[in-house]
Amino acid sequence: MSVQAVADIGLIGLAVMGQNLVLNMDDHGFVVCAYNRTVSKVDHFLANEAKGTKIVGAHSIAEFCAKLKRPRKVMMLVKAGSAVDDFIEQVLPHLEAGDIIIDGGNSHYPDTIRRTKYLESKGFLFVGCGVSGGEEGARYGPSMMPGGSTAAWPHVKPIFQAIAAKVDGEPCCDWVGETGAGHYVKMVHNGIEYGDMQMICEAYDILKKTLGLTADEIGEIFTEWNQGELDSYLIEITRDILKFKDTDGKPLVEKIKDTAGQKGTGKWTVVSALDTGMPVTLIGEAVFARNLSAIKNERVAASKILGGPSGKFQGDKKQFIHDVSKALYASKIISYAQGFMLMREAAKENDWHLNNAGIALMWRGGCIIRSVFLGDIKTAYTKNPELTNLLFDPFFKAAIEGAADSWRRVVSQAVLLGIPTPCMSSALAFFDGYRNAVLPANLLQAQRDYFGAHTYQTLTSDEWVHTNWTGRGGNVASTTYLA
Ligand SMILES: *[C@@H]1O[C@H](CO)[C@@H](O)[C@H](O)[C@H]1NC(C)=O
Ligand SMILES: *[C@@H]1O[C@H](CO)[C@@H](O)[C@H](O)[C@H]1NC(C)=O
Ligand SMILES: *[C@@H]1O[C@H](CO)[C@@H](O)[C@H](O)[C@H]1NC(C)=O
Repeated sequence: MSVQAVADIGLIGLAVMGQNLVLNMDDHGFVVCAYNRTVSKVDHFLANEAKGTKIVGAHSIAEFCAKLKRPRKVMMLVKAGSAVDDFIEQVLPHLEAGDIIIDGGNSHYPDTIRRTKYLESKGFLFVGCGVSGGEEGARYGPSMMPGGSTAAWPHVKPIFQAIAAKVDGEPCCDWVGETGAGHYVKMVHNGIEYGDMQMICEAYDILKKTLGLTADEIGEIFTEWNQGELDSYLIEITRDILKFKDTDGKPLVEKIKDTAGQKGTGKWTVVSALDTGMPVTLIGEAVFARNLSAIKNERVAASKILGGPSGKFQGDKKQFIHDVSKALYASKIISYAQGFMLMREAAKENDWHLNNAGIALMWRGGCIIRSVFLGDIKTAYTKNPELTNLLFDPFFKAAIEGAADSWRRVVSQAVLLGIPTPCMSSALAFFDGYRNAVLPANLLQAQRDYFGAHTYQTLTSDEWVHTNWTGRGGNVASTTYLA
């Protein structure tokens, strides 16, 4: 029996994301072969969701691979982890050199680096592609972040760019870089998403607790914000959430338990920030803010024991609402500046050639953090691909300086009234640290030298010296303590 190679691409894993990507590819004229380990799923899919389309199915891995045109493109949407390795081993005997395996799941980037090297060593090509936008995005246009074997890109580009979200006609999908770069950038995207969400929650909390506004009133404010520089998917859904009423006519949001869950991609970003030594403080605070929310029982107990300020807001309400929007905007600039600092450092360590303007464009549409703001970031990196820091771009320099007074007023007000703003205030601390030529690390170096003889450099010499601070003790010159 000879099976005809009819399909442009094959997809393994018919959960909702996989099904929707298959249907999306079909919409754009590609012939897709679908496979699922539970073969009955394939038949069910063909007889239902895929009815009347050009989609074909396969009942075995051998049949699946035989139906693919060369070079074969095998895309997997299976659970991250060992399932990806298992399927790679299953398809390999049916592939030939130059064929391409694509992992469209939520893999952790070190796995993608490993898999790229492994498959390239066997003559195959591998693509680790971050896909964002949820089920709806997968069906009608996700943000796609492919990286891996660069030679694979020309083969998958027409399909990926066709099915990706478009902004002003440009696809939110471009080649990210080598080995694990695609999944790395997807990870940072998720970390930034944590930050964006937490900052919005802080803005809501400040407006609620400082001005005593209702969910409806804050919803109105968000409606306005969504028409300006903060225009974004997350502001838009927040507006709708705040206005949503429960069956009794009360805002549903106020009935939801304030304990946040998380799946771990925010943590991965922060771990990578610590590993590379980049101060990605805002995302770190966003992850910890969720953690603090999660220990609700402890917080309830603490609320009965620990007091705080009892003052009331006494300024101009309208001005303050404007200030909060600017505090949100400025904090967001810091978060993205930190995210790009992290990616730059990771690129250096992993020898990736990242396309920063392309990354901003990939995030511009289709995904959760999509916003007008990302269009400005794309413009900045298009103008200057070598930009050291987003804050050095004239647009963002002017934007953050213009917002700074408002930002300081909001953070000081929150501090005075005892309202926690971990992201907004740590972003401001980062900004003030970053723009200061002199930080108190001179004292820190002295402390390290005092107790551990770690030595220090002076402002006028690169030589490492040790001072006998105490006039006591013996011949302490080694670094006994590693503090
Ligand atoms: C098969 O399909 C089910 C959903 O119908 C999905 O949960 C599962 O991940 C798929 N698995 C594979 C490996 O094809
Ligand atoms: C705290 O955050 C980490 C990292 O994301 C997560 O694994 C853990 O489950 C969280 N714990 C609580 C109590 O929320
Ligand atoms: C520090 O100074 C004291 C007093 O002059 C001296 O006894 C000691 O040896 C010195 N220690 C070192 C490490 O130079």
